[in-house]
Amino acid sequence: MTRIDPDGRMEMAWPDDPCGRGVCVDFRRVSLRGVAKVALVRACGGRGRIIDATAGLGGDAWLLAAAGSDVLAIERSTTVRQVLADGLQRARSDAKMSEIATRIALHGGNAIRLLPTLHGEWSAIYLDPMYPPKQGSALAQKSIRLVRAAVGDDGDADELLLAAAATGTRRIVVKRPHDAPSLLCPPDAQIKSKLVRYDIYVGAGRGLRVLRENAA
Ligand SMILES: C[S@@+](CC[C@H](N)C(=O)[O-])C[C@H]1O[C@@H](n2cnc3c(N)ncnc32)[C@H](O)[C@@H]1O
Repeated sequence: MTRIDPDGRMEMAWPDDPCGRGVCVDFRRVSLRGVAKVALVRACGGRGRIIDATAGLGGDAWLLAAAGSDVLAIERSTTVRQVLADGLQRARSDAKMSEIATRIALHGGNAIRLLPTLHGEWSAIYLDPMYPPKQGSALAQKSIRLVRAAVGDDGDADELLLAAAATGTRRIVVKRPHDAPSLLCPPDAQIKSKLVRYDIYVGAGRGLRVLRENAA
């Protein structure tokens, strides 16, 4: 469920959470130290024009925009999108954050259907579909559990990857847990961070070629 917290922010919460104890989008909390060098930004090829086809609560889109990219963020869940839009709106009217916030354009809808309709040159398409929770693993962050309750498990992630490949964009990046198999085929490169890895399908690489053949 969503509701407005005592500070006027839209938050996602469990029905029995006290008001103000839910999850809102507040980009002031995001550390931007060394942002140009973080694994996500390097995986996406540095500064450019990037489609974040699985925007969620916008944390990754924010890092990419803070590193100087223009980001088109797509989110299909109305609930999640409303909470992100609320956070972006507040950031746009904050003198310290407006420059970053105006680099993010948020679109609603299913990226599988939207990607073929987007025109222009994109330097990268970034995908971070939900991943099913591991049996017996530690409890995920509250924000992840709330988003999962709203959207499910993104069982069409393979289809989304093929839709991204079909756009002709020369760099596609997929975030995966370390122990998860790659989607559809092995990537052309990987960048690993402490918690996740980024599978990169790039340029004339075999991985991207295989994906394009499958998308055709
Ligand atoms: C793991 S979350 C993304 C988290 C995000 N990277 C962040 O930093 O907050 C996955 C999100 O992608 C969205 N999503 C998955 N497949 C999608 C699709 N085909 N089109 C649009 N949104 C999609 C889900 O609704 C969910 O909100």
